[in-house]
Amino acid sequence: MANISIFTDIQTLSQAVANLFIDNAILTIETKGRFSVALAGGSTPQESYELLASEKYSKLINWSQVYIFWGDERCVPPDHIESNYYMAWEAFLKYLPIPTTNIYRMEGERDPWEAAQRYQDKLMDFFGEIPRFDLILLGMGNDGHTASLFPGTKALFDSKVMVTANYIEKLSSWRITLTPLAINQASRIAFIVSGENKASTLNKVIHGKYKPDIYPSQLIKPVHGKLNWYIDKNAATHLHE
Ligand code: 6PG
Repeated sequence: MANISIFTDIQTLSQAVANLFIDNAILTIETKGRFSVALAGGSTPQESYELLASEKYSKLINWSQVYIFWGDERCVPPDHIESNYYMAWEAFLKYLPIPTTNIYRMEGERDPWEAAQRYQDKLMDFFGEIPRFDLILLGMGNDGHTASLFPGTKALFDSKVMVTANYIEKLSSWRITLTPLAINQASRIAFIVSGENKASTLNKVIHGKYKPDIYPSQLIKPVHGKLNWYIDKNAATHLHE
């Protein structure tokens, strides 16, 4: 059963996500000496990332033991306004003492299939056979997609790879994405969902019939880890209907 936390607004939601990040980082660094996190793209997590770079949060962990990955990336250069790497770099990474070698960017500027293979190789080098992220942050689109796992696309049921290229017809664009196989190995997965426009879909994803081809976020079911939903009141409007 998913653990759902509802927050008054995006500000309190973002503080909770920043606290989750830091708490997991402190615990994991203490026990394992390193903390691996895959970041969500899109706009919702931006305020959480900005908080992590603030005085209050940034001094709480040793950033040289933090390893940054992404759940997905758009096929654009790293300095492109649409790049998930660019958003995170501008929001917090550029302000923090994280060695560049700790930042594992998906190379959106490359051929999608080549970029996917290169990222899979990086994950294998870092984790070994199975990538077990300590934390994966995910957003959800109002069509029920997460990462770049969009409804009706080929990547949804790929059970052979950890990272793949995925063509998104409705966006007429390629993406690079972790597959559910990789995401579900994480120790902790946190969805971050805000806004009334996602409320109806969110209720169907959490409480509706299992239709992962239509609602790919339903594919996210950690094998060993924990799944948390961090949502604001607006996104929770239709929960339990
Ligand atoms: C992306 C994301 C995607 C995002 C959702 C929600 O590359 O766009 O990884 O899965 O998290 O589309 O986006 P918003 O937070 O902007 O609503």
